[in-house]
Amino acid sequence: MIQLPSFVTNLGYLVAIAFFIMGIKKLGRVKTAQAGNRSAAWGMLLAVLLTVPLLTEVTWMEVLIALAVGSLIGGVAAKRVEMTGMPELVALFNGFGGLASVLVALGFFFQSYKGAFVENLGGAGGVGVVFLTVLIGSVTLTGSYIAYAKLHGVKIGGFKLSNPVTFKGQQLLNGILFLSLVALPILASMGVIDPRLAVYLFTGLALLLGKLVVIPIGGADMPVVVALLNSYSGMAAAAAGFILLMDGNVGGTILIVSGALVGASGLILTNIMCVAMNRSLLSVMLGGFGQEGGEAVAGDGPAITYKPVGSEEAAMIFEAAERVVVVPGYGMAVAQAQHNVRELMEELQGMGVQVQFAIHPVAGRMPGHMNVLLAEANVPYELLIEMDEINPQFNETDVVLVIGANDVVNPAAETDPNSPIAGMPVLQVWKATTVIVNKRGRGVGYAGIENALFGQDNTLMLFGDGKQMMIELTNELKEL
Ligand code: TAP
Repeated sequence: MIQLPSFVTNLGYLVAIAFFIMGIKKLGRVKTAQAGNRSAAWGMLLAVLLTVPLLTEVTWMEVLIALAVGSLIGGVAAKRVEMTGMPELVALFNGFGGLASVLVALGFFFQSYKGAFVENLGGAGGVGVVFLTVLIGSVTLTGSYIAYAKLHGVKIGGFKLSNPVTFKGQQLLNGILFLSLVALPILASMGVIDPRLAVYLFTGLALLLGKLVVIPIGGADMPVVVALLNSYSGMAAAAAGFILLMDGNVGGTILIVSGALVGASGLILTNIMCVAMNRSLLSVMLGGFGQEGGEAVAGDGPAITYKPVGSEEAAMIFEAAERVVVVPGYGMAVAQAQHNVRELMEELQGMGVQVQFAIHPVAGRMPGHMNVLLAEANVPYELLIEMDEINPQFNETDVVLVIGANDVVNPAAETDPNSPIAGMPVLQVWKATTVIVNKRGRGVGYAGIENALFGQDNTLMLFGDGKQMMIELTNELKEL
């Protein structure tokens, strides 16, 4: 391998880090997100090229083969994944990150251990870093695969894994597992247990813990869990970076910085999602919430009187409007109606109606769900208006079309302190002159509660599947 002077490597790492930071910054806006992705990818390529010459026990050929295989798997997976399958793919990739960190830690341990546990690992700090890396990496690995299985709708013996799996004594078992994980490195340091046995046991228990902490969480809460596991995979990578440094490899620095960036951004995203859903992270992690409910069962709600409207009458209301705001929600994703929504938008624009889209940060089931679907249907992103900006404009709006949204337009969040969604910021659509709500029936949303908006004087219910109703509405408008 060609050896680079260490100042060149370190300088190059600084450039790579600048690319990563620019990438994350640009990912914050739809307009610059693709450029952000590219920037981070260039940074990663640079980091890999600078790190390979530091490796003394592998040849360029071996590295190139590994790069080619990895790039092929990543490229094919990214090309084939549906936009809505993104959280699953991220879960899988997080798992790989966790696995890589565990392997680094185990490799370092078995290479360094020569009979004197603490001394061989460079002191108590070294022992701590190795075990911490195995712990975070293993929890990320198995936690991510359970998250993947839940999102993928895997069934075990007829049981849908996406439902929360709870059993008596679950928290106690997790507590015992955690205490055993704390005790094992201490016992190994005291010479009570063979360090190699301790490492094997520790890895096994940490893998088990990863599974146990994710199984009680419902499938619909998985995007939050995936964001959290993403943060864990960053922390595991940063911890592995410290191990590389202990091993005398300066490549550890770039791993520490990139791992810390992933760790911090994952935590920030988790927090944004929890705030927007008005749930504490603890309540998400304790599980039991977020079952996939919302079946369209007619008549299963309390006495909210609905005023149904047909597509012909709805089209006439749209025709008279000057300003229309469309509020998409999870139901639009279920119906895959985004292309038909865009066609409706074009028809209205052709009639001189101003159309905008109101985007709630947690509409749908994954971060940016609505943005992604509408972008896929070529709705210009300038028309997508965030909640804080659009809320003051609803009282100047003639018609709001809610398609498959429920919780994100529920006034109970503001009016009922006992509601499960009390305090959650919502789109104040009820302030518009007329609200037309499209959904299939009386099905509830993710939070499992009724929505008084549907019974308000200025609300009309356009019942039917989202896609079908958007087609009907557009056709009616064309005929007017
Ligand atoms: P929801 O409150 O889940 O409501 C979706 C509504 O869509 C249902 O009431 C359902 O009513 C309707 N629907 C289902 N299929 C439909 C179809 N084919 N055509 C038309 N309508 C259909 O959706 P939302 O307002 O987007 O709120 C999202 C919820 O998910 C929030 O509570 C949020 O906290 C939670 N959540 C979000 C995320 C992220 S990151 N976005 C992650 C986890 C949880 P019918 O059955 O009557 O049709």
